[in-house]
Amino acid sequence: MQAKWWQKAVVYQVYPRSFQDSNNDGIGDLQGIIQRLPYIKKLGVDVIWLNPVYKTSNVDGGYDISDYQAINPDFGNLADFQQLITTAHKMDLKIIMDLVVNHSSSEHHWFQESKKSKSNPYRDYYIWRDPVEGHEPNNWGSFFSGPAWTFDSTTGQYYLHLFAKEQPDLNWENPQVRTSVFDMMNWWALQGIDGFRMDVISMLSKPAGLPDGPKESGALYGDGGSLVANGKHEHEYLREMNQEVLSKYNWLTVGETAGVTIEEAQKYADLNGSELNMVFQFEHMGLDGNSDPRLGKWSDQKASLTALRNNLAKWQTALANKAWNSLFWNNHDQPRVVSRFGNDSQKYRVLSAKMLAAMLHGMQGTPYIYQGEEIGMTNTNFHSFDQVVDVEARNAYHELVEKEKIVSSEKLLHYFSQRSRDNARTPMPWNDSANAGFTSVQPWMTLNPNYSQINVAAALSDKNSVFYFYQELIKMRHDLPVITDGDFKLVAGNDDDPDVFAYTRNNADQHLLVICNYTQKQLTRHYELPTQAKLIIQNYSETVADQLRPYETKIYLW
Ligand code: NOJ
Repeated sequence: MQAKWWQKAVVYQVYPRSFQDSNNDGIGDLQGIIQRLPYIKKLGVDVIWLNPVYKTSNVDGGYDISDYQAINPDFGNLADFQQLITTAHKMDLKIIMDLVVNHSSSEHHWFQESKKSKSNPYRDYYIWRDPVEGHEPNNWGSFFSGPAWTFDSTTGQYYLHLFAKEQPDLNWENPQVRTSVFDMMNWWALQGIDGFRMDVISMLSKPAGLPDGPKESGALYGDGGSLVANGKHEHEYLREMNQEVLSKYNWLTVGETAGVTIEEAQKYADLNGSELNMVFQFEHMGLDGNSDPRLGKWSDQKASLTALRNNLAKWQTALANKAWNSLFWNNHDQPRVVSRFGNDSQKYRVLSAKMLAAMLHGMQGTPYIYQGEEIGMTNTNFHSFDQVVDVEARNAYHELVEKEKIVSSEKLLHYFSQRSRDNARTPMPWNDSANAGFTSVQPWMTLNPNYSQINVAAALSDKNSVFYFYQELIKMRHDLPVITDGDFKLVAGNDDDPDVFAYTRNNADQHLLVICNYTQKQLTRHYELPTQAKLIIQNYSETVADQLRPYETKIYLW
């Protein structure tokens, strides 16, 4: 089968607020992105995914949209956006936007109308319910702490918000909501975009009757998330969206599908094109959580290679020839990959960042690189609550430390330094000057204190940098069809190796062997290779037969 353009593409994710400030207000903006397009092009990627650039109440990094057809004035205006599209297209770069339609902002005029009265024409755009015995309509917790319901005294009902209270969930059962969303998407098509990344798109269809969710012993709330993921009408809605919008364009569409299973992914990302092109699955992001359900993601555990390999290999083989994977290690919601799965010490940062990059970029799927990953950016060590910006972490602090007293302030700050979303959101360090070349004033958010060593200028001037390694991997993907269409197999005996991940990719003409030492140990491993095999990628300057040095990676082709 002829590969689709998005199957061969590599995507670079830009978090606009933290990428490049052009007007010296300390906030990244669209003109800043335009200035940096040559840098993105130099890396060799094909597509840019922009985190939300819409008008917003800015409670959750722009994921609370107050006008779907206006640009956030902090970032510029529609003319800037059009200039970004035109300039990118001239450079053969595509742009996809974030589509956030599980919820809007509470400042959106739909919600402002909806809350006025029970008979308002927009009432049914959201999910309102009467109190039950003076309480919330069910036991669901919000993903951002507290209950998933907020009471509104004007009409005496609660509205549902799976995220912050400023992010009311839209009611997808209402056909008018669907039409409004599809019209808006078609309007963006006219602006020349190349697709959408769809925020929590697996949660559109809520279960009939909104029953209580399962509650683990000791948990504060019931788990509504498991009930709303992949709900009854989910695929109907996406097929309708496909008919009304997606099928008209040659787009890249990727669903952020929290709670997706293999069977569900095969529907969302079926190669027949009836819904989306591909999905983000999150199982490998959940391997290092806290054993205490009340703490969930707040943890300092490290995922074992065995768990990680089992998971990634499962998704590789299960979707092959049926659906399409997205490949990612981090994004604006996740800590930095080198700190989380690698080793961010001075000695091993570059080696382990390269090893993890090779592990991912040799697989089948469309890779996503999050800004700064390509220079091996690390987590930021937050020492005080004042440095915590993100609503998820701030709410968790109030609930877990102040209200419930489940964990000490020191411990939770330690977990934040490992896992909070702020780690990924510090401004892009372009050079070692004051404010890192990001802005000339105080940036909206603290810079990573190591920016004078880890920055773009330093990476570009070092031929052994993480940047040039990513560049090689991207070129490899573009040059070698086997990476797009080859099968995936673990090397015989690798399935229980606790330290090494080794897999092959094969099509009729090409074969690839990817070897990754996940540890800082020196290991001895022998892999059979045909005589014509060529070493095409490595992170040490020379190889030693049958030896794997700390975090060593090698890719052979024959
Ligand atoms: C997922 C987004 O990636 C995240 O940043 C956001 O907070 C939630 N969805 C809610 O929109």
